[in-house]
Amino acid sequence: MTTYNHIGKSLARVDARGKVTGETPYSGDLSMPGMLHMKVLFAGRPHARIKSIDTSKAEAAPGVVAVFTAKDVPVNEYGLQWQDQPVLCGPGSSKPGADVVRFVGDQVAVVVAESEAQAAAAVKLIKVEYEDLPVVTDPLEAMKPGAPRVHEEIGDSNICVHYKIRKGNVDEAFAKADVIVESEYRTPVQEHAYLQPEAGLAYIDDEGRVTVVCGGQWTHEDQEQIAHALGLPEDHIRVIYPAIGGAFGGREDMSVQIVLALAAWKLRKPVRIIWSRQESIIGHGKRHPVILRAKWGATKDGKVIAIQNEIIGDGGAYMYTTNKVLGNSTITSTGPYFIPNVKTDVYGVYTNNVPSAAFRGFGAPQALFMAEMQMNKLAEKLGMDPVEFRLKNALKDGDTLGVGTPAPGPVSVIECIEAARQRFGWDGGKRKAESASHIKRGRGFAAGFKNIGFSFGYQENCWAKIELRGKAEVDEAILYHASAEVGQGTHTVMAQMAAEALGIPLEKVRLVASDTATTNTSGSVSASRMTFMSGNAIRGAAEIALKKWKAEERPAVGEFKYLAPRTTTFEPETGYSTPNFAYAWVAQAAEVEVDTETGHVRVIRFVSADDVGQAINPALVQGQVEGAVVQAQGYAIQEEYKTKNGYVLTDQLSTYLIPTVLDIPEKVETVLVEVPDPNGPWGARGVGELPYLPVVPAIAAAIHDATGVWIDEFPFTPERVLRALGKI
Ligand code: MOS
Repeated sequence: MTTYNHIGKSLARVDARGKVTGETPYSGDLSMPGMLHMKVLFAGRPHARIKSIDTSKAEAAPGVVAVFTAKDVPVNEYGLQWQDQPVLCGPGSSKPGADVVRFVGDQVAVVVAESEAQAAAAVKLIKVEYEDLPVVTDPLEAMKPGAPRVHEEIGDSNICVHYKIRKGNVDEAFAKADVIVESEYRTPVQEHAYLQPEAGLAYIDDEGRVTVVCGGQWTHEDQEQIAHALGLPEDHIRVIYPAIGGAFGGREDMSVQIVLALAAWKLRKPVRIIWSRQESIIGHGKRHPVILRAKWGATKDGKVIAIQNEIIGDGGAYMYTTNKVLGNSTITSTGPYFIPNVKTDVYGVYTNNVPSAAFRGFGAPQALFMAEMQMNKLAEKLGMDPVEFRLKNALKDGDTLGVGTPAPGPVSVIECIEAARQRFGWDGGKRKAESASHIKRGRGFAAGFKNIGFSFGYQENCWAKIELRGKAEVDEAILYHASAEVGQGTHTVMAQMAAEALGIPLEKVRLVASDTATTNTSGSVSASRMTFMSGNAIRGAAEIALKKWKAEERPAVGEFKYLAPRTTTFEPETGYSTPNFAYAWVAQAAEVEVDTETGHVRVIRFVSADDVGQAINPALVQGQVEGAVVQAQGYAIQEEYKTKNGYVLTDQLSTYLIPTVLDIPEKVETVLVEVPDPNGPWGARGVGELPYLPVVPAIAAAIHDATGVWIDEFPFTPERVLRALGKI
């Protein structure tokens, strides 16, 4: 095993001090002299055509500087994947369909005033005349011919995504199967609930650029979308990320950026906005709720030979990243197993719900809930140990995925399963003899995998620049990089990788980050991709800089754009493709207690074995694992997002309950598996999403082990558990 100076070391975070002392400003802390304040008028109704907007009273209100509506937005459309959302909904813009609001959080107008209170008061004076349209919130209803259309202007139905996998012959294979398990699963919405609600400050900088300081996940993509909506060249827009209070995918799509830029551009003054928690909850996308229908067949020697899946994701009102999220659901819907015969259909559907968006795991948690439930049920039906059953079917190098090509290797799911089994002390997970107590204990196992990167034919890329300063010795290495530090530790990991590549102490690395004026694009902090991508970019830049340093250039500057291995899109009828260049693998085991009188589920112990390739900073990896397990546990047993006819009932953290320290598992154990990826920097794969993925099915299996019931829909709230037990 190679030893490194900085790689594999739990060094202190480079951003720790400022965050711990409170000195580091987050978006909501920013201010400038002469700054104005913005408030948004949200639609507050799920589907309606706006006939007219009267802003005259608001404009005349005390302190009001300006009111902007659809007619003021030069190119009134935006979107990360499809530009299907108006910046401001209403009449007067050239965008077809921009006069329609499609969910409660659509933005109708913004007021800019001298104080926040004045802006808020004036918002109430705006008169909007609506004509309500029929609302569709159930994706199954929305799929039917004749359903109310969410986007009249797009396609010929609400179905906006359809992916297919056709591999082998499922009909013949089912005929040969000894056991078949058929189930329908439902997974819920999840709210990101990051600590910091959306906020930002926009102003005109010294060079005349419209500058937006606001948290996000991809500076250059934000810049591109703002420039598009304002009808300005990209270099007239500057995006800077301050410290970011969590993202988890929820900051991939835009929220306050474009309207802030619009106001600063028109008024030539600094403008700030801070969303309340309520505005945040209705205003940004959520994890896709998904309906999953599965029929899986296995032979009595324990081989899964046929899978037929139908997956329907509620996309909500706009595309956001639904096409990419459901692409990941498609890939992961077979679990990390070799299945010779697969037939899968995956649909994304527009509805009048709050848009579904990126959220840690990006479509994989939903698909893996189905896959791992199916595996555990098949193991039970076959009378096999669920771990042994997994080992019999686990993917190995060269085995083809559902999409017909092998996962780029090494495929290490078997190593992860073995590691989790050993650490947990897996004993077969057989239901304990009935105890007299109403508190029942159970154990469950699950596995998963996740692609690193967006890919699916998109050429993944990442840029870095390193400037070496000094005379005989390197005094300072300045690393320029756009990557968003959303709390995960990417800036620390990048500094470690730069120090390693340059052979200098960490203290000599200075990071200039997350500003479109000084960096080129790094791609998104998403899809567990940034360690892999930035590490390769840094290595390339370091090599060039060191060469120039040896040639006596001062400063010695190396600039490099890493291009990941090429990938392909799904072949439309079969899904045949090489959709990703790298994967990471995971296996987990849970021990739970179920109170059969109250229905409460408590996670006692949790083990997560994650193949991250090479941990650049093991303490940060452990932080990712513990954070992911806690977040997924909230998804599994606690968080319940409720809506009625498109209205959000749980729009505050007093009604949408996330885990507190009293709810989280008593013990989460991280087992590092390190099977290097040949293309990863120092072998690294990725970790951001991985430990989130099989948490729910591991807990579900443990509940089954404790109580004897399978619960196919979560969260496993007391009410749902008691109903499953037949007690209510
Ligand atoms: Mo992510 S859910 O790929 O930010």
